[in-house]
Amino acid sequence: TMDAPARTETAKPHLPDAQTVTHVTHWTDRLFSFRVTRPRSLRFRSGEFVMIGLLGDNGKPLLRAYSIASPAWDEELEFYSIKVPNGPLTSKLQHIQPGDEIILRPKPVGTLVHDALLPGKRLWFLATGTGIAPFASLMREPETYEKYDQVIMMHTCREVAELEYGRQLVESLKDDPLIGDLVGDKLLYYPTTTRETFHHMGRVTDNLTSGKVFTDLGLPPMNREEDRAMVCGSLAFNIDVKKILEDFGLTEGANSDPQQFVVEKAFVGDGI
Ligand code: FAD
Ligand code: A2P
Repeated sequence: TMDAPARTETAKPHLPDAQTVTHVTHWTDRLFSFRVTRPRSLRFRSGEFVMIGLLGDNGKPLLRAYSIASPAWDEELEFYSIKVPNGPLTSKLQHIQPGDEIILRPKPVGTLVHDALLPGKRLWFLATGTGIAPFASLMREPETYEKYDQVIMMHTCREVAELEYGRQLVESLKDDPLIGDLVGDKLLYYPTTTRETFHHMGRVTDNLTSGKVFTDLGLPPMNREEDRAMVCGSLAFNIDVKKILEDFGLTEGANSDPQQFVVEKAFVGDGI
């Protein structure tokens, strides 16, 4: 303010590793997204995750893993979150508003990064639910379009409303002043539902094994020479997709051993 003493640094945060919430959007009663300020020192690769959270009732940080949904070049950080009714963190986090502070540990990690894949022609993003978050980052990453001729975003949710965050993001890319030209016609979006009528339906797994997605998009079946994939969903989803990709001849890779596909859990579930 006008009468505040001159400072070179912003005010000291109240929390350790505090960042300030700038925007919150509620998509359904179970899903919301939010943006926070970005620590100036934070460098990350599009697709990575960090630990974020709030102070718990005991005064200690209550932290959970979250994919950064914004691309590496963005000034702010975006997250896309579930609201678990009695979840220790999200039962509180779902009430954040602009101006509130969250804790963000600036140590990004993760396997869904370009460095973990060998060069290819097409890149498949395969996600269910909030598993689209790392791809919200990678779909806005220039490297994605510099490295591949085509990028296919398959996202499956139970209901149409749960697809909306991803749909609006994909829609906005065309007119994005920074990467709109790079994206061009390269991005193919293939959203499906499983429990509500929609123009495309069915599990990612079924649409891959039946070949329906290849027919619908006019693409050849996946093969080891041309196709690369990144997978993010529940443990059961990841296991089923991994088997299908292996049947197509692809091999799982990692940061230290780039191959044809990589997998990351969208959350730690209650087992299969
Ligand atoms: P928890 O005690 O952590 O979870 C309670 C139960 O809720 C879990 O056992 C599971 O059955 C269910 N659950 C948790 N998260 C989800 C989810 N995302 N979708 C469906 N069911 C879920 N969550 C996000 O919302 N967005 C992300 O970008 C995200 N990225 C993650 C990245 C990694 C690598 C991992 C391991 C997890 C990620 N999670 C993400 C899950 C997140 O860490 C928390 O589990 C989630 O925020 C719920 O926290 P909680 O304390 O409220 O409940
Ligand atoms: P379905 O409705 O047929 O179970 P959830 O809300 O349970 O996390 O599921 C999110 C989406 O992922 C749903 O559309 C669900 O389909 C789908 N799904 C759940 N498990 C699998 C799996 N093992 N393989 C493929 N898709 C799955």
